Amino acid sequence: MERIDFSDLNSDRPLKGKKILLGVCGSIAAYKSVFLLRLLQKQGAEVQVIMTNNAKQFVTPLTFSTLSQNPVFSYLWHESTGNQDWSQHVQIAQKADLILIAPATMNTITKLACGICDDAVTATVFSASCPILIAPAMDKDMFNSPQNQKNLQTLQAFGYRILPTETGFLASGLYGEGRLLEPDIIVEQVLFTLTPKLLLNQNLLINVGPTQEPIDPVRFISNYSTGKMGIAIAKWAYRMGAQVTLIAGAITAEIPPIPIQVVRVQTANQMFQAMLEHFPKASIIIGTAAVADFKPQFSQNQKIKKIDNQEIINLVLTQNPDILLELGKQKKTHQKLVGFALETHNELENAKKKLLKKNLDWIVLNSTQEKGATFGHDTNKVYFISSNQVIETELLPKEQIAIQLLQIIASMH
Ligand code: CTP
Repeated sequence: MERIDFSDLNSDRPLKGKKILLGVCGSIAAYKSVFLLRLLQKQGAEVQVIMTNNAKQFVTPLTFSTLSQNPVFSYLWHESTGNQDWSQHVQIAQKADLILIAPATMNTITKLACGICDDAVTATVFSASCPILIAPAMDKDMFNSPQNQKNLQTLQAFGYRILPTETGFLASGLYGEGRLLEPDIIVEQVLFTLTPKLLLNQNLLINVGPTQEPIDPVRFISNYSTGKMGIAIAKWAYRMGAQVTLIAGAITAEIPPIPIQVVRVQTANQMFQAMLEHFPKASIIIGTAAVADFKPQFSQNQKIKKIDNQEIINLVLTQNPDILLELGKQKKTHQKLVGFALETHNELENAKKKLLKKNLDWIVLNSTQEKGATFGHDTNKVYFISSNQVIETELLPKEQIAIQLLQIIASMH
């Protein structure tokens, strides 16, 4: 059995060792940058804040310097100190892994589009060679003005990543486009930008969670699956550059704020149809769903009533389609098919049988015997099994298992 070390991507602190410059401009949304700073730090990033003078009208530099444990950079010139450090913008720009301007005002966007660098934010951006993310925030008419739209297009053409804005209530009291994206969505975009693109040009189709098989309008048969493992895979596949389609059963785990296609289904048959529909354009198919193997033969239209003195009720079950087995029978042209196996005994032997029977490229074995693994836990311990390899993992966060699986799949293409 092989042991491998996949230590380069850390799911708990994916931004560990990354230096991020957070540019804050003069918008009421500047208060959200405080939360943004915190969230970036939680992901392991070292953050330094750069402020325009106008930004200081909304949040003080003291707040940012205290929380970031770094001095805020905001003056190009320190006349009183003889201006020893006038080239600081170059030094911090060169060390940065990413610059995020959030909120970016029309003023700063215009200056960046036209090449004006008369403050700490613009001077730093022009001295950098790392990716630049712009998260605009302004009132709706300003946001939609032809000048602003043209400047955003210009920045995009220069290679800056322009994040969208949200539509909603604005500080002016108006309703419309121009709200700063929520900090957790911005952080996802930072993570997307900085994650190695191992799955670029891949189309990943994944099913997650339990199916529910109706007995009558108020009851169903299901299982304890939450969807956590599959959602972790979908999230990291997106960050690694794949186009992701998620076919979701009745999940209780939350889907993160990432732009992936989500198709909601209830029953195994609906899940099967959705998987078949998306199969032809997929290059990687992963079956993490806990598909109910059986469904009631007849689902009643009306609630089944209790009958006095009748202690035993017979429910006749029929088999659902085995989705992966059926997909394995389809003509695999370029597709890689990956399944999961949940076993209670003879684990390796049973999983290997499933790998062959379902014509899979890899199967990920979970055992109910492992403490802290399978349903509902945040951790898992698995074996990655192919026709000629067995790789055993430690007990790891499900996200770390997701990363390892995707690294294995990426190495196959
Ligand atoms: N699977 C599927 N359709 C089913 C049952 C399972 O696509 N009707 C998939 C699961 O998503 C998983 C793999 O097949 O990727 C193995 O599922 P598992 O529940 O471990 O095994 P089963 O094939 O259902 O066999 P058994 O219950 O007899 O162990």
